[in-house]
Amino acid sequence: MISKFTIQKINDEARVEDVVGEFVTLKKRGANLMGLCPFHNEKTPSFTVSPAKNIYKCFGCGKAGGPISFLTDSQQMTYPDALRFLAKKYNIEIEEENISDEAKQLEVEKHNLVESIHIANAAAQKFFSDYMTHNESGKIGLAYFKERGFLNHTIEKFQLGFAPEGYDVFTKHALKEGFQLEILKKAGLTSPKENSTIDFFRNRVMFPIHNMTGKVVGFGGRIMVKDEKAPKYVNTPESEVYLKSKILYGAYFARNDIRKKDECLMVEGYTDVISLHQAGIENAVASSGTSLTIDQIRLIKRITPNITMLYDGDAAGIKAALRGTDLILEEGMNVRVVVLPDSEDPDSYVKKTGADAFAQFIKENCKDVILFKASLFAAEAKNDPIKKSELIRDIIESIGKIPDTIHRSVYVKECSQLFDMNEQILITEVNKIRRKKAGDQKQEADKQQQQDQKKLDELPQSLHTEQFNETTSNLHILERDIVRILIEFGSWKIGEGETEITVVQYVLEELDGQHIETSKYKMLYELIKHEFAQGNVHDEKFFTANDDPRVTHTAIEILAQPYSLSDNWLNKLKIVVPTKRDVFIKDIASSIMRFKQFKNISELKKNEQRIKDSKDETELMKLMKLHKLLIEQKKEFARTVGNVIYRPTT
Ligand code: UTP
Ligand code: MN
Repeated sequence: MISKFTIQKINDEARVEDVVGEFVTLKKRGANLMGLCPFHNEKTPSFTVSPAKNIYKCFGCGKAGGPISFLTDSQQMTYPDALRFLAKKYNIEIEEENISDEAKQLEVEKHNLVESIHIANAAAQKFFSDYMTHNESGKIGLAYFKERGFLNHTIEKFQLGFAPEGYDVFTKHALKEGFQLEILKKAGLTSPKENSTIDFFRNRVMFPIHNMTGKVVGFGGRIMVKDEKAPKYVNTPESEVYLKSKILYGAYFARNDIRKKDECLMVEGYTDVISLHQAGIENAVASSGTSLTIDQIRLIKRITPNITMLYDGDAAGIKAALRGTDLILEEGMNVRVVVLPDSEDPDSYVKKTGADAFAQFIKENCKDVILFKASLFAAEAKNDPIKKSELIRDIIESIGKIPDTIHRSVYVKECSQLFDMNEQILITEVNKIRRKKAGDQKQEADKQQQQDQKKLDELPQSLHTEQFNETTSNLHILERDIVRILIEFGSWKIGEGETEITVVQYVLEELDGQHIETSKYKMLYELIKHEFAQGNVHDEKFFTANDDPRVTHTAIEILAQPYSLSDNWLNKLKIVVPTKRDVFIKDIASSIMRFKQFKNISELKKNEQRIKDSKDETELMKLMKLHKLLIEQKKEFARTVGNVIYRPTT
């Protein structure tokens, strides 16, 4: 094994810009370098390399790390391989530490196993496809797909195939090709029973399942005729490369369109995905008949916050299916629901109506999941008070899962109307659930936030800062200023020539790692960040005339405010506020600085309290160190605030 000393040396020497630069074309932008992200598909660069911090970060997909993790994550190198690669690049001699041959062997074996399974799966996919198109007895599979309306290019794109009848046609072939039986079993291609060479998939049409890099990691095999005794689908068992809970069928083919449409359509099965894609609706993926796992949800969340669930027309399973959506709400994503007409599934319905009418149907019939649930239940429980209270509880549970305060309160309002119930009672119930969920500490923070939010909402157009608890009110205003800059000046350019960037980029880079806490400003901030990641920088109109009324409302409210801080506070800190547009760069820089300064001061206060409370020696040491750092920052801020000059190259 490579010694700790060597690893340290590699860590010290390796420069992120050199390493990334070998694989990604980078252009200088201010202090940073930018390029197209190697972790996700994009047309406009949001992948940033900071030589100063020796890290990379992508504003689009959120991937971040240093030289070593770049190699392991984007180039699929193993950790030791990455170290060796860097040692060679920087002429560092590798010192091997004594480690048992056994352990070494294990590592090599694991690596080889995964590789071998990938190769076996690729070979199997090719075999099944070839068998279907070239072998007489495979034509039955092709006929089946044709009968279902799949065109040749679709069959090729999804690499569909046919697993022959008989017991071991594939396994025999693979063994002859030199594959080890052990590997075929581990890949789930051959029955795992001892000494058996029976094919796992027999006489079935085959749907290869791809991972995010397009590699085949498993298969679904569908029976071609109705048979009560045999399962309709047989799926690859879990393997080293196929973890069912982490894979969504079709995601590899859908990811670009999901990004483009900023929406993911969730369907049930293989055939639904394929038919939709064939019709040009390429943002569909399938959960393969089970409810979504947290890993699958996060897979989507990296691309879009919007999921639309498509349910078959037979209403039987819908209520159960809706339960699965709570997990998505909990991730802070937007869930919408479409129920297809009677006894149609996406596959049959898109074939019947065509792509345009299908898309239109979705657009017209998609309902927000909570409101959908509420209206479904409201009808059902009309004359049954006991049932009604059960159902309300169910909905409140769902609302309680939503992390965003504003979203929650909108739902509460709507539900109170739907069920004709007192809004305050609903709020109390939702809050109860959130408290239970978050535990005591978080409960306090939430209560505080809700109170602040409520106060803020109740205020008339002009702000009366003195009504606020001083610290939170100042934070509100600082955060409002940041968002206001992004909305008002976001598309303006600063810097010159090579170093010219938009204000949005400048602000996002400057605030990297900082959080906006006020939820309505956070909503806008996240929207701007998300848009920027897609390569979009908008001007005011986008926000003030947005489809989402919450965006419009908040944007207008912000723009209607004068750009100013509480005089009270300004006097205390002796800050001069520049207000004229023509000094807007200075405005921006100082707003950011003030925001950071505020964060610094509140962090300092928190840390001082921690120091007081700490009883542990080593912890205390750490806290003191942090204290020193914060004090230094504080001094630095005090020097710069009020006297900020934007320097494009620093
Ligand atoms: P469906 O029964 O709707 O299958 O199950 P389908 O793919 O739409 O096929 P058609 O339209 O009847 O021809 C939906 C999904 O549930 C999983 C599969 O992923 C399937 O695509 N499933 C279903 C299984 O894994 N095993 C089964 O036995 C049935
Ligand atoms: Mn179906």
